Amino acid sequence: MAKNTESIFTNPLLRWIDDRFPLSSLIKDHATEYYASKNFNIWYLFGVLSMVVLIIMLITGFFLTMNYKPSADDAFNSVEYIMRSVENGWLIRYMHSTGASFFFIVIYLHMFRAMLYGSYKKPRELIWVLGMLLYFCLMAEAFFGYLLPWGNMSYWAGQVIVNLFGYIPFVGETLTEWIRGDYFISDITLNRFFAFHVIFLPLAIIGLVAAHILALHHVGSNNPDGIEIKKNLDETGKPVDGVAFHPFHTSKDLVGITVFLIIYFAAVFFAPEMGGYFLEVDNFEPADPLKTPEHIVPSWYFTPYYAILRAVPNAALGALFLVLAVLLFVFLPWLDKCEVKSIRYRGWQYKFALTMFAISFVALGYLGLQPATGIYVFLARFFTITYFAFFLLMPFYTKLEKTKTVPERVVYKKKES
Ligand code: HEM
Repeated sequence: MAKNTESIFTNPLLRWIDDRFPLSSLIKDHATEYYASKNFNIWYLFGVLSMVVLIIMLITGFFLTMNYKPSADDAFNSVEYIMRSVENGWLIRYMHSTGASFFFIVIYLHMFRAMLYGSYKKPRELIWVLGMLLYFCLMAEAFFGYLLPWGNMSYWAGQVIVNLFGYIPFVGETLTEWIRGDYFISDITLNRFFAFHVIFLPLAIIGLVAAHILALHHVGSNNPDGIEIKKNLDETGKPVDGVAFHPFHTSKDLVGITVFLIIYFAAVFFAPEMGGYFLEVDNFEPADPLKTPEHIVPSWYFTPYYAILRAVPNAALGALFLVLAVLLFVFLPWLDKCEVKSIRYRGWQYKFALTMFAISFVALGYLGLQPATGIYVFLARFFTITYFAFFLLMPFYTKLEKTKTVPERVVYKKKES
């Protein structure tokens, strides 16, 4: 299709800008002439929701920074001050703390969508890898942010995670000191975590999101049927199964965003602590290096990995398994040997494996919140095995799959066979 370089504006000022900046072509390339499949379902909402939460986090974070003080003496009290004295400070803080949990909810669903429809497969491997880099940055961002209120759980969960680096052979001890900037988590550590949380990581995340979307728009979106819509074009060169992202997908997304915001604000207003899952009870006490909380647990979105860490009897090996558990996702595009993308047309092997994986991930998340004793340890070991089996056995079971014929054109509803 010949590239349409005409300006979309009639307004003289916008035309003036258009002559000096590719505004029209940006809008056309990424919205009005970006064609995405017409059969997107609810799973395709979580990418845009991740963007909505990111914007909420950047705005509320910016206002929090105006009153937060990154020092061991002042941090806890400055958060209390925000909650009690700053006008609408409670709202800004709860929007930020609730936003962190909602970020991970939408990201996990966004990632699971890619696993359902094979969106990580050729030609979208780089979108997936950039997504994984985003996931790592988000984990680091959440971890650094968690220390900032300088509550007792912030302090001790930070301690546990930084100590994990100590298991790295030879350099471990030096590395933990280097990260902390001190022999224990202190004012110095808080200061540098603050710098990472408010400057370095947000910039990295914004840059990665831009790269993620550019890569996506370069190859085109996948869809619930896993069909490449670019292979079937009409006489004007548009995909017959595609519709313009704007106004068709944007109007649909707006409905989803509205529903999401209703749920999110219901949590912000009525359950910001979410029974101790979004804000832990121990974090309402200031950090105390002499008072270890009874059960140190990281935030719920890290607990699947935390359960894996504790399931392995040897601590150094546990730390290695934890790292592997996160890293293995990166390799999915190469571990999955099946030609067919969407779960709709894949064999029972992948359907079974993905179901087992989802059960294992949720179960490990639950077990990570429980004390590491008795039956909980046994179950954590069982689900650690099923978790790793999903990835490590993938090259074998995906080769055995007997797939269904993938249709030529996208379908609106899954056809039962
Ligand atoms: C700040 C975090 C993120 C943002 C803002 C974001 C945003 C988006 C958006 C807007 C889309 C297009 C709409 C959609 O398909 O849902 C998308 C697609 C995609 N994202 Fe993300 N994403 C993020 C993180 C991730 C992560 C952690 C992964 C996985 C590792 C990932 C993997 C993908 C894939 C594979 C696609 C293509 C999906 C398809 O075409 O079927 N993204 N992302």
